[in-house]
Amino acid sequence: MNDPTTGESPVLELRDVEVAFTSGAGAKRRTVRAMNGVSLSVAPGETLGLVGESGSGKTTTAAVALGLRRPDRGEVRLLGAPFPRSRRATAGSLQAVLQHPHWSLNPRRRVGESVREPLTVVRAGLSRSEQRQRVQRMLEQVGLNPALAERYPHELSGGQRQRVSVARALITEPRFIVFDEAVSALDVAVQMQILALIRDLQLEHRFGALFISHDLGAVHRVADRVAVLYRGDLVETAATDDFFRTPTHPYSQKLLETL
Ligand SMILES: Nc1ncnc2c1ncn2[C@@H]1O[C@H](COP(=O)(O)OP(=O)(O)OP(=O)(O)O)[C@@H](O)[C@H]1O
Ligand SMILES: [Mg+2]
Repeated sequence: MNDPTTGESPVLELRDVEVAFTSGAGAKRRTVRAMNGVSLSVAPGETLGLVGESGSGKTTTAAVALGLRRPDRGEVRLLGAPFPRSRRATAGSLQAVLQHPHWSLNPRRRVGESVREPLTVVRAGLSRSEQRQRVQRMLEQVGLNPALAERYPHELSGGQRQRVSVARALITEPRFIVFDEAVSALDVAVQMQILALIRDLQLEHRFGALFISHDLGAVHRVADRVAVLYRGDLVETAATDDFFRTPTHPYSQKLLETL
């Protein structure tokens, strides 16, 4: 479906997506339905907040949205084309920022190199000095002194490291970014800064975002719409203001009471 206001197709569209995990063997064999017919979409420039308790299927949804996991049933469209497609076709257009920067930053590599690395895959035509210039600019855009490019991750604060992860995600000018608990490990004050940064960068770069968090306060700040997962079911999707004012599903009401 195209956005009626702009005619642009969604960056992500899931229709009736089902994912089940089977573990164990024999009598201990168990099946968990992590996604139970989930339908959602993210428009260019939009942030969809995805909330739900631990184990509700948020990270599974992220994996499907990034094309890392093929659903058992249902349809996935990334950037207007059906999944699966080659890694090459989507390289650079999809990025992820995860909870712990050490999942994306190599501890033995200077942070400038980590930020540059996605460029070497996607824009192989750029010279090394052009790549370095882009890294410097990107570090400035996420509010870091470009001199930090020469440092190693352990020499940075948690907030600085997460800014580096954001720079690394943005360097390829992606159209869609998944943030999975991207600010959850940070102090509240630092969280606020990173959330404001994400908002600013989105205005400028117009990427669509799936912002996953169990923290409703963070979602309130950053999301345009909110989707609520409950044990693999998407029980409510609403504009952020409406959701926080008048949640309709009983589970959403319960979630908001705990805030
Ligand atoms: N690789 C796997 N093998 C077996 N079960 C899995 C696997 N990954 C996830 N699950 C199960 O699927 C369900 C959804 O997990 P998922 O990681 O998507 O939840 P989540 O909402 O991200 O939780 P959290 O808030 O704790 O990160 C859980 O019951 C989990 O145990
Ligand atoms: Mg998770």
